[in-house]
Amino acid sequence: MSNTPPAPAPVASEHIDLKPRNVSFGWEDTPLHWLPRDPFAGHMINVLHLLLPAGERWFVHVYKQVLPYIEDERLRADVIGFIGQEAMHAAAHDDVLPHLKRLGLDPTPYTAQVDWLFEKLLGDRTLPPGRARRWWLMERVAMIAAIEHYTAFLGDWVLNADELDRRGADPTMLDLLRWHGAEEVEHRSVAFDLFMHVDGNYRRRARTWATAFSALVFLWQRGVRFFMENDPSLVNGRASLGQFLRAGQQGVLPSTGAMLRSIPTYLSRTYHPSQEGSTAQATAYLATSPGANGGSAA
Ligand SMILES: [Fe+2]
Ligand SMILES: [Fe+2]
Repeated sequence: MSNTPPAPAPVASEHIDLKPRNVSFGWEDTPLHWLPRDPFAGHMINVLHLLLPAGERWFVHVYKQVLPYIEDERLRADVIGFIGQEAMHAAAHDDVLPHLKRLGLDPTPYTAQVDWLFEKLLGDRTLPPGRARRWWLMERVAMIAAIEHYTAFLGDWVLNADELDRRGADPTMLDLLRWHGAEEVEHRSVAFDLFMHVDGNYRRRARTWATAFSALVFLWQRGVRFFMENDPSLVNGRASLGQFLRAGQQGVLPSTGAMLRSIPTYLSRTYHPSQEGSTAQATAYLATSPGANGGSAA
C-alpha cells in the first residue's frame, strides 16, 4: 500500500501572489519587558528572535536547492516569493538582538548553539550526488513543512491575541510579530504544497513532524530558561511549566489545548494549511502595519 495520501483540496480562492515587503522597525524605545509585568510570556515570545534568524535562513538555503525539482510554474513562483519573505523575516528578528544586548541581555551564547544546529546538524552534509543527497533534501523539505504548520499557527494566534493589546504590549514589538505572523498566514500553504509536489510520503511527513515538534519544544524551553536566568532585571529568574500553562489561559501565549489540537490537524491525511487561518485577515493587517508601510509603530 502506498504511503502517499490523495492530495487534499486547497481553498483555491485564497491564492495570492507572494512578495516580500520592506520593513522598518525602530527599537530604541522598546523596553526589555515589552509585555508589562509578564517577563516570562515576553521572553517566551522573545525566543522567536533567537530561533528565527538561523531557522529561516536555513529554509532559504534548503529551498534554493529544491527549485530544480519543481515542475509547476505557479508553485515555483510561490516558493520564490516564500524565499524572499523568509529572508526578510530572518533579518528583521536579527535586528532585535543587538537591542536586547544593549538592554543587558546578550543572546550570543544561545544563538551560537542555534547557528550550529541549523548550519551543521541540519546543513548539507558531505553526501555524494544521488539517492542519499536527495533523501536528505526531502527530509529537510518535509521538516520545513512541519515547522511552517507551527509558524502559521503562531501567526494566526498573534493576529488574534487581543490580550497583548489589553496588557499594553510595546507597539513596535507587536507590529513586528503581527507583520511576520500575517506573512506566515499569507504563505502558509507553500511549504506543504512543495513537500506534496516533490515527495508527499505520509511516513516521512509524520516522522519529520515528530522531529520538528520535539526540537521546537527542546529549543523553546532552553531559550526561555536562558532569557529568564540571564535577564539582569530579574532576581532568581526561573521558567516553569506552570507559568506557561497560566500564560496560555490568560491569552498572552497560545493555549495548551490549541497546541495539542494542532497535532492531529497536521497529521490528518486530509490536512491542507489553507483550511486554517484567514488570508483576508492577514492581508488586512499587512495593509495597515506601520513597519510594513514605511515606518515603525512607535
Ligand atoms: Fe517567517
Ligand atoms: Fe514561513
